[in-house]
Amino acid sequence: MTARPGSASPVDPRTTTAWDRLGALASGFDPDLRGWFAADPGRVERLTFTAGDLLVDLSKSLLDQDVLTALLALADEVGLTARRDAMFSGERINVTEGRAVLHTALRLPADASLEVDGHDVVPDVHEVLGRVYDFADQVRSGAWTGVTGERIRTVVNIGIGGSDLGPVMAYEALAPYRLDGLECRFISNIDPTDAALTLQGLDPATTLFIVSSKTFGTLETLTNARLCRSWLLDGLRSAGAIQDGDTAAGEAVAKHFVAVSTALDKVADFGIDPANAFGFWDWVGGRYSIDSAIGTSLVVAIGRDNFAGFLGGMHAMDEHFRTTDLAANVPALMGLLNVWYTNFLGAETHAVLPYAQLLHRFPAYLQQLTMESNGKGVRWDGAPVTTETGEVFWGEPGTNGQHAFYQLIHQGTRLVPADFIAVANPPYPLKDGDVDVHELFLANFFAQTRALAFGKTADEVRAEGTAEEIVSARVFSGNRPTASIMAPSLTPSVLGQLIALYEHITFTQGVVWGIDSFDQWGVELGKQLAQQISPAVAGDATARDQQDASTQALIDYYRSHRR
Ligand code: F6P
Repeated sequence: MTARPGSASPVDPRTTTAWDRLGALASGFDPDLRGWFAADPGRVERLTFTAGDLLVDLSKSLLDQDVLTALLALADEVGLTARRDAMFSGERINVTEGRAVLHTALRLPADASLEVDGHDVVPDVHEVLGRVYDFADQVRSGAWTGVTGERIRTVVNIGIGGSDLGPVMAYEALAPYRLDGLECRFISNIDPTDAALTLQGLDPATTLFIVSSKTFGTLETLTNARLCRSWLLDGLRSAGAIQDGDTAAGEAVAKHFVAVSTALDKVADFGIDPANAFGFWDWVGGRYSIDSAIGTSLVVAIGRDNFAGFLGGMHAMDEHFRTTDLAANVPALMGLLNVWYTNFLGAETHAVLPYAQLLHRFPAYLQQLTMESNGKGVRWDGAPVTTETGEVFWGEPGTNGQHAFYQLIHQGTRLVPADFIAVANPPYPLKDGDVDVHELFLANFFAQTRALAFGKTADEVRAEGTAEEIVSARVFSGNRPTASIMAPSLTPSVLGQLIALYEHITFTQGVVWGIDSFDQWGVELGKQLAQQISPAVAGDATARDQQDASTQALIDYYRSHRR
């Protein structure tokens, strides 16, 4: 049975032959990575794949040939390739919002074409990209000046969720590619501490704000944008740089504020000149938008050529996912493996452990990508899901994690599949005497994945002369699954490849589970209630009385302690 691309209901994975087969394989599954490696000299070669510049070693996964065959059969039975093709061709697979899902169109080359509702979107994408590049060139060269005529020294991106996490993560990851003398900062949280600390030490005359919001209706972002506008105007006025009055304020805002949004009418209402706004389209999900104009702060930081390389890397991974047979298709294989771990081996979380300091925000970025996409309890046809969905993604860079939570991964009672990510060439090579510190660092990556896979037996512990009473505490079971991802260097292209890899892993899992991975209704209720509770926090007795007893008590505590 193979699903049709536009079929109203997903295939229930539990009704497939492959699901039964996987269930049978899982019952009594007794993984033995030591034995598997010993018996099969071809295992590493067979389970190591390339996608773009990435080398992905899945040999330390809890995978044997029978499981792999069944997972590929599952992909076939749920119609993974048909749905993948539906996404790439612009079908409205985001059904609850009635939208196409075309973040992949944002990285198509200019000579490509892709029609949505009879309209080729590629020229639109490149028209906006060209405007973003021109704007970034002006800021980087100093041609764009603030209201006093001084060049811009700091760009502050104001946004949250997908309008923040991608730009911050990539800005950090591509630090060696940034232009000297031009800093980017990021404000996301509505906690006023975020704006206060981020603006500390900045000169309004040399600061430019990018208000990034797909909807331009997000409370946090609009509140922070207003705070920043007041900070700008108050600062310029008290320095005598501008006069009082609306005209001077409007001129200052025009020089110091630009916006990125799909809602350009709301941008104008906020007082930002539409000429200084960069649009995108409702077929780009917030957590898939780093490659749209939402990446403007990144373009300013790394320049047009490097951003083009970043988009090129994403496109290379898209092409790999779109055209490679599933048996060698890295995002599909990794997504299917996650299904195996989640639905058959009981894993509830998934660690992402970059052995690359510059990727320190990558796990946080992936949390939105994966959990906002697949943390769902209903399928795209509105029926309840029939299986567990959406693991908890988390992680920290190695080696910091080793000295914090790896104990649980090595010896705890839970199965925690982990992705290790590293590059061969460090951005900042340093030596400790004769020792290349990057090599010391990578030795830790290789040691951890080896220890997790192969463990240490009681006999090996005893052979070290360990006292019998603590032997069991020093045994490592092994058979703890990891994927090793390596690349030559953390270039813009490689970063783009990594992001697109995880986008398509997420997609693959969503298809198996029958989920619309592109809506996010689960964040709405809290937003609505915050609006409703806000008057109660400010002292409105009627609004307070409408709350539940616990919420009333918390509000009362706040009001009695607030100085
Ligand atoms: O938290 C929900 C969400 O809609 C995310 O999906 C999105 O990335 C974020 O809010 C920010 O939304 P916007 O870009 O519209 O301000």
